[in-house]
Amino acid sequence: MKKKALNLFTLILSIFILMPNLAFGQEDLVDDGVIDLGTSADFPPYEYYEKDEIVGIDPDIVKAIGEYLGVEVKLHDMDFNNIIASIQSGKIDGGAAGFTVTEERKKSVNFTDTFAKTSQVVLVKKDSDIKDIEDLADSKKIGTQLGSIGHTLATDDFGEDYVQAFIKVPDAILSLQSGKIDAVIVDKQIAQSYADSSKDLDLLDSTYLEEEYAIAVNKENPLLLEKLNEAIGALKEDGTIDQIMAKYEGSEEIEKTDGIIGRFKANIIENGGYKYLVDGLKTTLLVTFFALILSFSLGLIIALVRAANAELGEELHGISGILLKVMDKIFAIFISIIRGTPSTIQLLIMFNVILVNLDNLILVAIISFALNSSAYMAELFRGGINSVSKGEKEAARSLGLSYYQMMKKLVMPQAIKNSLPALGNEIITLFKETSISGFIGLADLTRGASIVISQTFDAATAYFSAAIIYLVIVLLMEKIFKKMEKGYLYA
Ligand code: ARG
Repeated sequence: MKKKALNLFTLILSIFILMPNLAFGQEDLVDDGVIDLGTSADFPPYEYYEKDEIVGIDPDIVKAIGEYLGVEVKLHDMDFNNIIASIQSGKIDGGAAGFTVTEERKKSVNFTDTFAKTSQVVLVKKDSDIKDIEDLADSKKIGTQLGSIGHTLATDDFGEDYVQAFIKVPDAILSLQSGKIDAVIVDKQIAQSYADSSKDLDLLDSTYLEEEYAIAVNKENPLLLEKLNEAIGALKEDGTIDQIMAKYEGSEEIEKTDGIIGRFKANIIENGGYKYLVDGLKTTLLVTFFALILSFSLGLIIALVRAANAELGEELHGISGILLKVMDKIFAIFISIIRGTPSTIQLLIMFNVILVNLDNLILVAIISFALNSSAYMAELFRGGINSVSKGEKEAARSLGLSYYQMMKKLVMPQAIKNSLPALGNEIITLFKETSISGFIGLADLTRGASIVISQTFDAATAYFSAAIIYLVIVLLMEKIFKKMEKGYLYA
């Protein structure tokens, strides 16, 4: 028993020691044959989803670049706000996400030659009293995308208190439509695209700043910058870029159905939105399931080690006593760190720092959520173990049971039973917590809903559908836990 715990401990320790080394393993991704670019597919016509595919001006341009260079180019959907950080960490080679070239950003990434002009505009509701940019100064609530130029502009001009930052553009649009904010500052073609597809939105005539788009590139890869520029130059010259722009001009009008039921039928059922929700649900369940198995095991081990230290620490001398104490300390610190930091930050650190070279997003999520949940599991198991009375334990020991036998026969069955209600809670929390997976671009259920919204511009039906799915699963889980508790009670 002690030996097993020791082996696992060595394993965990070596993972932690090895990880930073993995993180620094730079590889030349151009030689590798694949240029990985981050995007944020919430930005029609520049990047958005059509069926399962990210389409738009940027995807078409990078595809043409790839063909020109004879290199595979892969787009990775993530939050706009994370793209530059991911480029810097080497997670991706660059970003094609309607990136405006700015001096500030040039400190962090390189930019290719520009290939399109745009401007920031103001999107309002049709009946709005905002007629000009100046009207925004009137204590209006302004929505922007986090990390975008629109966000910087709005906070500089109107003050942070009046600006709300959204991770995804459609969320800002929804807030505008529901009247929570008064305006959205966003790039012109994108605003036009949203205005075209919903009858209650309008664009102010005055524009905010002329600007230009380019592809962002990792500063440490000048060769890639050079190659991309060469390709962009050629594609400008032979008219390919103009053709791509023309293809997306005049966004298609989406037919609008009224009434939430009608919209549900149109957007979720008929247009195939449910597919993203179903696929997302699969991912959510997969992540939850494996994270649960890992966190359950790890939590149990941590609890057992810590309980053993509490009980035997004094008795044991020599190396095993010291080892137990050290492990207890390490686990205590681990639990404090996990409980003391937001799970979103933990996930982002896993993705951007520790597991930067692990491309499998599902695995990154599983590891991150497993570690997170294991800390809580450990504490609830420890509570369960402690709930077994001292007297009972002493009786068992005086009957001649070894510590191991006592734990196995007397303590753990009771401990698990006493932990069941809290364990049920933790599993439900874990399941719902996975909804932050979208932060690293994993298409879980919540992200699936966002994808549906970016296609249909209808947030209500997509979010309600996702919420109902979460609820149904949680209710199912509760039923199962009840059954298990009962089974345990009368066993
Ligand atoms: N052009 C703006 C910027 O660079 C907004 C870009 C947002 N892109 C996106 N794919 N959501 O800040």
